[in-house]
Amino acid sequence: MSGHKKLQGKIAVITGGTTGIGLATAKLFVKEGAYVFITGRRHKELDDAVKAIGSNVTGVQGDIAKLTDLDRLYETVATKGRIDVVFANAGVAEFAPLGTITEEHFDKLFDINVKGTLFTVQKALPLMKDGGSIILNGSVASVKGTAAFGVYGATKAALRSFVRTWTSDLKDRHIRSNVISPGPTDTPVIDGQPADAIARIVSTIPMGRMGGPDEIAKAALFWPRMIPVLSQVLNCSLMAAEGKSDLRMLQRIPCLVTFRQDALEGWPPSSGFRAKAPHPIRRGPATSLRQER
Ligand SMILES: NC(=O)c1ccc[n+]([C@@H]2O[C@H](COP(=O)([O-])OP(=O)(O)OC[C@H]3O[C@@H](n4cnc5c(N)ncnc54)[C@H](OP(=O)(O)O)[C@@H]3O)[C@@H](O)[C@H]2O)c1
Repeated sequence: MSGHKKLQGKIAVITGGTTGIGLATAKLFVKEGAYVFITGRRHKELDDAVKAIGSNVTGVQGDIAKLTDLDRLYETVATKGRIDVVFANAGVAEFAPLGTITEEHFDKLFDINVKGTLFTVQKALPLMKDGGSIILNGSVASVKGTAAFGVYGATKAALRSFVRTWTSDLKDRHIRSNVISPGPTDTPVIDGQPADAIARIVSTIPMGRMGGPDEIAKAALFWPRMIPVLSQVLNCSLMAAEGKSDLRMLQRIPCLVTFRQDALEGWPPSSGFRAKAPHPIRRGPATSLRQER
């Protein structure tokens, strides 16, 4: 790796950083110069993850659905004085076709994936540096209508809605909110799912294979580095990550980039920003499904 580290000196919070996508992202962020706080409910997995990451990491045990656990997390993070990046990644997935959905299934998924994610971010705000980056971990299930994934998909659709609102709520602080929407990714969460359901999902992927957590970690790394004004006005679902430079990557996947028409008011910004919009960009209402492919 070259001498230049992409997140040198940044402080990042990664919920669910003990396995899968969160752990891969924590390792990548540390490699790129960040100090990371990771969380998870299970003590052993947390300890193992801290050891695997090796340095510049603190593990804080906790459940994102419990607000007192989040308070404890941010009391620990406060020792560093600020947060540059929050990757609200922790989440759970379960299949349940309509007709079999229980209240327990609904409450569990909404408590963790929606309530937990919302309060992970809200409670981070007092420590969040202006110009910081909020990244949520969504899913393609939020738009694909995957069989038996109705409640899970709805929780992830809620996250897409959150970031649109937060882009407006946090614009004065230049804090950017984005959601990445991974396709099926080979992590421990997959191990617990029925093999036929996974095979059915994988059969729909043009690449013919699941993604790896390291690939999604690269998508997470994209956002904190993104030129602030661009990711403030763009409402992106980044489903694939590749390429030599971030802007070139963005240009190669224009169909995945959607524009917030309302956020364009005042464009180009009068001062404080050096960025120019990349080409091509689509203008249009943020609610258009066609644009959110
Ligand atoms: N794998 C996929 O195919 C896929 C696709 C799209 C989106 N995603 C999303 O990616 C995110 C990470 O999943 P993954 O695939 O990496 O699965 P994973 O390996 O099972 O990781 C989930 C992480 O979240 C933690 N976690 C779960 N519930 C939590 C809670 N209530 N409070 C705190 N931490 C909690 C887990 O640790 P503990 O269990 O110890 O708490 C673990 O660290 C999830 O939001 C998932 O929905 C995954």
